[in-house]
Parts: sequence; C-alpha cells; structure tokens
Amino acid sequence: MFNKILVPTDGSDMALDAAKVARTMAEKFGSDITLVHVVQNYYTLPAFSMPDTVAIPLSVLQDLEATGKLILSRTEEVFADFTGKVASRLEYGPPGKLLVDMIVDEGFSLVVMGRRGLSDVTSLFLGSVSNHLVHYAPCPVLIVKDAEVEKKSRARKK
Ligand SMILES: Nc1ncnc2c1ncn2[C@@H]1O[C@H](COP(=O)(O)OP(=O)(O)OP(=O)(O)O)[C@@H](O)[C@H]1O
Ligand SMILES: [Mg+2]
Repeated sequence: MFNKILVPTDGSDMALDAAKVARTMAEKFGSDITLVHVVQNYYTLPAFSMPDTVAIPLSVLQDLEATGKLILSRTEEVFADFTGKVASRLEYGPPGKLLVDMIVDEGFSLVVMGRRGLSDVTSLFLGSVSNHLVHYAPCPVLIVKDAEVEKKSRARKK
C-alpha cells in the first residue's frame, strides 16, 4: 500500500510539514518518495484580458528555476538519512494539471501536500493547487494543515 508517494512542494512551511508527514508514511509503508516542484512558465492574466497567458522572459524563468532547485534541496533535507528511495524533480507547466498528469502516467499511490502554499491567505479554504489535486487526482490526497493557523482561525469564528 502507498508504494509510491508524490510530495509536491513550493517551499512553504505547510509543504515542508507535508514532507515530514510523507517521510513518516514512507517509513511505515516502505514507500518510494518523489519530491516535485513545478515552475510555472507563464503568467495567468485576469479573465477579461486576451490572451489568457503570456510567456515570461528567460531571465525570470532562470530565476524561478534557481529558486525551484533551492526549494527542492531544502525539502530533501527532511529526508536526510532516510533509508528508502527519494527522487527530486523540477517540472514546468501549470502545477495542478501537470501534477495530475504525473500521478496518472507514473502510477503514484498517494499524494502528501500542504493545504495552502505561498499565497498570503490564511483562510481555511484549500489553495488552487491543493484544490485541483483533491478534485482530479486518481489516488488518495493527504492534505497537511498548520495546527496554529487552524487554531487561530477557529478562535476568530467564536
Ligand atoms: N508550484 C508548485 N509545485 C509543487 N507543489 C506546489 C506548487 N504550488 C503549490 N504546491 C503544493 O500545493 C500546496 C498548496 O498550495 P497552493 O498553491 O494550492 O496554495 P496557495 O499558494 O496558498 O494559494 P494559490 O492558489 O494562490 O497559489 C503547497 O503546500 C504545496 O504542497
Ligand atoms: Mg500557490
């Protein structure tokens, strides 16, 4: 069970917490781990503008790529002295769709990811990438939450 775990990461605290949960799961189930960061190689413009997307300049893409590599190496640190298999990948494209295609094509059996990522939003909703995977991934998706954020949000509601 859960022999191939996919851990999508954007370097956020919740994604790092998710990587720690993935490590625990992998130790219990003897799973292989794949860490992936998706570089978004276009800008999405507001719905009223045309065209929907524009290519980004090469220098910006190179910065995003360098940042992506740093994100991956930070996430790899969570797996220091982990005895199972860990692979790290940088991919390019729209994160939600690309991750679902990867899961389908490569037969991942579990995804472990953060509820939210880098956006400055503290609501209890899912982010756009986590929301996409919960809806479209063909395997179970384990969403890792930040206990402090959830506590504050519950307190605000009282
Ligand atoms: N580019 C990415 N590559 C790989 N994983 C990602 C990427 N972006 C997000 N994730 C994963 O999805 C989780 C949720 O992040 P998500 O982007 O959905 O929320 P957000 O950044 O708060 O909101 P937004 O929808 O505005 O981006 C992260 O914790 C991480 O596990
Ligand atoms: Mg995001």
